[in-house]
Amino acid sequence: MDPISLCFSLLAAAAFSLFLFKLLLPSARPKLPLPPGTLGWPYIGETFQLYSQNPNTFFSSKIKKYGAIFKSHILGYPSVMIASPEATREVLVTNAHLFIPTFPASKERMLGKQAIFFNTGDYHAKLRKLVLRAFTPESIKNIVSDIESIAVDTLRSLDGNLVTTFQEMKTYAFNVAMLSILGTEEAKYREDLKRYYYIVEKGYNSMAINLPGTLFHKAMKARKELSRILAKILSVRREKKQQYTDLLGSFMEESEGLTDEQIADNTIGVIFAARDTTASIMTWIFKYLAENPSVLQAVTEEQEAIIKAKEEGREEKALNWSDTKKMPMSSRVIQETLRVASILNFTFREAVEDVEFNGYLIPKGWKVLPLFRNIHHNPEYFPEPEKFDPSRFEAPVKPNTFIPFGSGIHSCPGNELAKLEILVLLHHLTTKYRYSMMGPQNGVQYGPFPLPQNGLPIKISLKK
Ligand code: HEM
Repeated sequence: MDPISLCFSLLAAAAFSLFLFKLLLPSARPKLPLPPGTLGWPYIGETFQLYSQNPNTFFSSKIKKYGAIFKSHILGYPSVMIASPEATREVLVTNAHLFIPTFPASKERMLGKQAIFFNTGDYHAKLRKLVLRAFTPESIKNIVSDIESIAVDTLRSLDGNLVTTFQEMKTYAFNVAMLSILGTEEAKYREDLKRYYYIVEKGYNSMAINLPGTLFHKAMKARKELSRILAKILSVRREKKQQYTDLLGSFMEESEGLTDEQIADNTIGVIFAARDTTASIMTWIFKYLAENPSVLQAVTEEQEAIIKAKEEGREEKALNWSDTKKMPMSSRVIQETLRVASILNFTFREAVEDVEFNGYLIPKGWKVLPLFRNIHHNPEYFPEPEKFDPSRFEAPVKPNTFIPFGSGIHSCPGNELAKLEILVLLHHLTTKYRYSMMGPQNGVQYGPFPLPQNGLPIKISLKK
């Protein structure tokens, strides 16, 4: 054979082997099965089954049938549900780069697509650093007495009234969020921010129809107003050339190079993340304490001891950070409420590629839902899981079984602030006020987090 023909033959042989190799490769590696479970009807999947019963019942019955990793099809997407602590850790921590947060486009549009939750990579890491900087114990320690003033004013305004706990706690959580974002200045913008934020909130859970007259349309307009007000605050601050230690100050730092739009998206995002979450947990605390008088008594005694130490002149009168470290019983009440109420039933991630996961295939684009609530209510980790028993937190719990603030790079940066504001409110509530629940107390409503029925109406008054 002449050299040219030899070259051609070799090339042809190489190309054919490559073709064969490619052809045979997929079958050489056995294709993994999808997780067990059912996908229901085309498009609607099992969404109807999920929402026609208590979502927890839906998930629990699936776990019983298929185990801790199963597939379903909900809210328009094929999804894999994860109810084991170890597998949840893989999704949220170890392989977080394969499972990214995902939200409906309408929600991104409303809150602002440059907000921390919707992003990954370097931009997310930068935002996270800026948010965490404003919410470390070091930073929030300085605002304990300001939070205390808000708690005192909130409770005073309720004295002698029949009130809806959730509504009142929303106002409290909003005011604390404002304090942590804007400090004590800019009071004149606060009312406008509140007014427009409330309109945004109403539209957030409405149908995403952007036509004049709809809640969604009104919310989108109010959202623009919020950006305008925040831009105004930023320009006033820039003129003053002062150093600010609050969240806005952190976002504004020149070296970080955030645009006004990015700052607005993230400021509104933090208010959104901070408010209903904390308010729902506080509402459940009111309920569980009222239903468990011996726990209420123990919390009251713990809080009274702090006042007594101050009256005996050993401590300054206003509450401070170190006082909040002397509240172990109250802290366990918060932990147990976070567990029993599990207001975030689950979170959403999306597989960025085909992922081999615990012997199954999770196809690219499928949603992955770590089921926080089912983990928190698994009797293997928390015996008699429906029972409210703060003493179960006297001993350390098994790793990864208690994750009310999530886990990994998207876990909650506001968790210290949330616990702090709850402790401060509990201090004044239990030492100065008594309250009783009014109306039916067994129902749960979703708004969108689970809440005691009708937001827990109570009658509250100063102790005589
Ligand atoms: C009891 C109250 C709260 C609960 C139960 C809670 C829970 C959570 C959870 C579970 C996540 C992670 C979600 C996921 O991985 O998909 C999260 C994220 C977040 N939370 Fe909270 N949260 C609370 C209060 C707050 C507060 C007070 C703030 C702000 C001051 C806040 C700001 C945020 C932000 C900005 C994120 C997104 C973090 C990121 O994507 O990197 N949260 N929260």
